[in-house]
Amino acid sequence: MNRHELIEAARVARDRAYAPYSRFRVGCALETGGGDVYTGCNIENASYGLTICAERVAFVKAVEAGERQFARLVLVTDGPAPASPCGACREVMAEFAPHLNIESVAPDGTSSEWTLDELLPARFQLPEAEVSP
Ligand code: THU
Repeated sequence: MNRHELIEAARVARDRAYAPYSRFRVGCALETGGGDVYTGCNIENASYGLTICAERVAFVKAVEAGERQFARLVLVTDGPAPASPCGACREVMAEFAPHLNIESVAPDGTSSEWTLDELLPARFQLPEAEVSP
């Protein structure tokens, strides 16, 4: 997908957000190394801490489908300025894609871009010996 198609896919996902508590809707489109796209939206809960962010929904869907390589993620919100991913999502994204390219687009078209290395320069990692994929 080209950039505009990815933004549109993220917008469609944002419009499916379940955010009755914050009223802050988030959508994202995650492109894999092979060019497939998985979308996510935030899903809130009456027990607020159980809320799941859009980025983690997209990653969970993609990983369950067998994906392990990710190229870029586009984030779209309702907010007045491009939002950057929360800390918890950064750790989850870094598990699979520490160099992921991330673009966030506000409703007026303003956008910001980062790499995940920039957003999370020193992620938590277990010692090499403890990891068996
Ligand atoms: N949210 C996301 O979906 N992604 C982020 O990176 C930051 C926050 C959601 C969680 C909650 O439903 C709402 O935005 C307000 O925090």
